[in-house]
Amino acid sequence: MANNISSPQNGNAPIYANIIGWGMAVPETRLTNEDLEAILDTSDEWIRSRTGIHERRIASEKETTASLGLKAAQQALSVTNLVPSTLDMVIVATCTPDYRFPSTASLIQNSLGASQAGAFDLSAACSGFVYAIQMAAQAIRSGSIKTALVIGSETMSRVLDWQDRGTSILFGDGAGAVILQASEEVGGVLSAVLRSDGAGADLLGIPAIPNYVTGDRKLNKMYMIGRDVFKFATRVIHESVIESVEAAGITLADVALIIPHQANDRILQSAARSLNVDRERFMTNLDRYGNTSAASIPIALYEAVQTGRIKEGDYIVFVGFGGGLSWGAIVIQWRVPRPAEVHSSRIAKQRRQFSYLRARVRGRWKYWRRRLRMLVNRVRPNYGRIYRLRSKIDEYDFEDDE
Ligand code: UT7
Repeated sequence: MANNISSPQNGNAPIYANIIGWGMAVPETRLTNEDLEAILDTSDEWIRSRTGIHERRIASEKETTASLGLKAAQQALSVTNLVPSTLDMVIVATCTPDYRFPSTASLIQNSLGASQAGAFDLSAACSGFVYAIQMAAQAIRSGSIKTALVIGSETMSRVLDWQDRGTSILFGDGAGAVILQASEEVGGVLSAVLRSDGAGADLLGIPAIPNYVTGDRKLNKMYMIGRDVFKFATRVIHESVIESVEAAGITLADVALIIPHQANDRILQSAARSLNVDRERFMTNLDRYGNTSAASIPIALYEAVQTGRIKEGDYIVFVGFGGGLSWGAIVIQWRVPRPAEVHSSRIAKQRRQFSYLRARVRGRWKYWRRRLRMLVNRVRPNYGRIYRLRSKIDEYDFEDDE
């Protein structure tokens, strides 16, 4: 599918979906190429020259896709004046969720105290963030929601086969997030191209059932035929960037910055050559984080904004590609001032802190209430005071006291 938003919907003035907040979070632990030399038949020289990666971040035992996503989301909210209860939708693009269900998005929605939001995970591997932005933007532009939180979060280290030097040197953990909001100001997500070719499932994936464990593949571990994915990536970056730019009614020369999925520096060089675009107009930070799958674009976006590489009014392109096979590109017109001019009010900050605290207390309360109820039910349920205690426990709920 490819679309743009040049025509008003139902005769009304068009609604635009602008990015108003951005954030990222990565684990503290660094795994360098030298560290990998100690456990694999590889070298710093090979990894640097073939991929451009110097190091990546690895989640600690306590860190999860949800905890990293939550931090990135809190940072994205912190550059806005919003409180979590104003969010209408939370989407997490991930291929490494904490649970099959509940969704990682639901866990984050709860920890934020985003009490009015729907939440779901989106599975499109490394293209997931681009897909998720388009889903949120469509919902905003249709008028059905006003504000969405879109997160890309991954703990790839947990699905790597650490004996496979073809994949384990590439990936890292991290999260990035953006807030999208309805606006009448022209800008935000202007066009999108989303594509898939499931015939490429054999090239890149993570088998989740034994039926797909053949040859060298392992259950719940990633496999990849790197060379074929490389060729696919360079082709689809070119095609989808051109198509999305045309759909937005601009030219490639108008684009200030292309923020691609951070897979391999050679892929990006080759795409820049084939598009005839200066390498500097391709954002790269994979030397420090490696390939963080669905998180790589929002992390790169965060760093581009913070380092002043994006100015108000700039056209930027996100382009993602990966497992599925899937790929996609979106064109965005940036509509926020420089970060230094973006301030969140003190009241908004305090209300957000209160929301996070309340969400934690509420979660603990629900947990202990269930335990208490079980305990009380074990004792004779009709016995005077205990019966009254049980009713009190049942009565008190956090649900509707916003
Ligand atoms: O995020 C999803 C999208 N993923 C991608 O876009 C990844 C795309 N693919 C790639 O980035 C590259 O294909 C890799 C970095 C994975 C591999 O680079 P390559 O230049 O395609 O290497 P290759 O697979 O063709 O292997 C070349 C040689 C082989 O040795 P022989 O057969 O020529 O003797 C490999 O065994 O390099 C060897 N090799 C290594 N040597 C040292 C493969 N991995 C390593 C390694 N260290 N880590």
